[in-house]
Amino acid sequence: MSDELDDFINDLQGELNTRAIKDYGQAGFERWKNPPHNHPIKNPDGYASVTGSCGDTMEIFLKFKGDKVKDASFQTNGCGPSIICGSLAAELAFGKNPEELTEITNNAIINIIGGRIPEEDMHCASLAAETLQEALSQYMKNKQRSK
Ligand code: FES
Repeated sequence: MSDELDDFINDLQGELNTRAIKDYGQAGFERWKNPPHNHPIKNPDGYASVTGSCGDTMEIFLKFKGDKVKDASFQTNGCGPSIICGSLAAELAFGKNPEELTEITNNAIINIIGGRIPEEDMHCASLAAETLQEALSQYMKNKQRSK
């Protein structure tokens, strides 16, 4: 009985993996299984938590050195695509100044994985981009206040 259950679970996992590779490509799949930058940052200079219309929440943390991002990360309680896109958004932020950060859009995010994301998951990339822009906005407001 236990062997049958194990076989069933292994088959199911294999089907899910095959489907994910088909939908998001090998690069997207690898990122989903082991997403870099998936942790909070203490005392971030810029931070935002945004809940999308799907009900999932994305958090982005930014730490600056001078006018460039020296550390960036994300957390989400969302779907697989939101994990991929949050991780990519954080990665894109590294080394960028505020003006360059504004260029990180949903399309910029999915272009890294070859534009491979099903149409129905585009809102997950939009949530990551929106949260990053909100974290930047918070950083700029904090910077203005401290002048
Ligand atoms: Fe909510 Fe993907 S379904 S972020």
